[in-house]
Amino acid sequence: MIILGIESSCDETAAAIVRDGHDVLASTISSQVQLHAGYGGVIPELAAREHLRNISPVVDTALAKAAISIDQIEGVAVTSNPGLIPALLVGNAYAKGLAAAKDIPLVGINHFIAHIYGAFIGQPELLADAANFPILALVVSGGHTAIVVIQPDGHARIVGSTLDDAAGEALDKAAKILGLGYPGGPVIDRIAKTGNTSAYDFPRGLTGAAGKAVKPEHRFDFSFSGVKTAMLYAVKDRSLSDQELADVVASYQAAVMGVLVTKAGDAALHFNTPVICVCGGVACNSYLREKLSQEAGRIGRKLVLAPPKYCTDNAAMVAGLAWHYLRHGRSDGLAMPTNARLDH
Ligand code: KG4
Ligand code: ZN
Repeated sequence: MIILGIESSCDETAAAIVRDGHDVLASTISSQVQLHAGYGGVIPELAAREHLRNISPVVDTALAKAAISIDQIEGVAVTSNPGLIPALLVGNAYAKGLAAAKDIPLVGINHFIAHIYGAFIGQPELLADAANFPILALVVSGGHTAIVVIQPDGHARIVGSTLDDAAGEALDKAAKILGLGYPGGPVIDRIAKTGNTSAYDFPRGLTGAAGKAVKPEHRFDFSFSGVKTAMLYAVKDRSLSDQELADVVASYQAAVMGVLVTKAGDAALHFNTPVICVCGGVACNSYLREKLSQEAGRIGRKLVLAPPKYCTDNAAMVAGLAWHYLRHGRSDGLAMPTNARLDH
């Protein structure tokens, strides 16, 4: 079955054509990063206007790359939540229009779950093997940071999440403080390579470090507001040399990623999951990928790293996941709601 996926929840307009959940015939992304860079974050109305401009060309490009016609599409999937409402609405209106015009099924997709699916695209054998379950997913993006336990029937339970900023947000805000531009993740990843990770002892929220006891209910939760504030004070009223900047960035990245690695490892042992997967934009981070590999090896867990092209926002994860839903008889009507929230 050939499914067209559409993604417009934030600042990328994406379309993908995926056969049977795993065979990606085309995945096209039009990024608005440059447009929003000057504002230090995504402006929802500007994003919506750009999506409107880009959506048809992006779908056309995907069809051309896959060398298929629109009439060969057998289902249309679209991110329906969570995200920025003005941005989501553009993709949702387009998908509904197409579903109605072509009389094909429509599937609304949860962006958060789609990110998890992104780690498994092209690897159906991993999902088919019951011995890999339950799977522990570390979802780390600009909007979310969570630990999720997934059962063989696809049921996903969030066992921990951030109490304040998401990990990507913590990187983006740090980059803004340091004048490094938006988004912060890729530039921090690059600069950190030349810095000393132990130059600064930045706080690692909710880990019990520095003698602060963690309440049992927050064992798998995250908090990144402390590390951001500590970094702000460390650089306040200083002009940093390139090496000093690299040291701040490397220490900051090590503090943020260190917490992710510690908590993912602890959760994999606690929930007895043979597989740890990591997905979402921050999963592109080279330091995180390396440290997670070491941790997974140490505790004897298999690590599934989402390929970088399916870490950041894309529509292949949307179209791929939709195939599983359609196979199990789930589709949505044209009255399908569009929602900003995750739990919808
Ligand atoms: O998944 P995504 O594209 O969008 C959301 O759903 O949020 O994630 C975007 C986030 C941004 O915060 C960006 O700074 C971060 O992913 N990111 C990275 C890297 N590349 C993107 N963070 C750390 N290292 C990277 N290499
Ligand atoms: Zn995303």
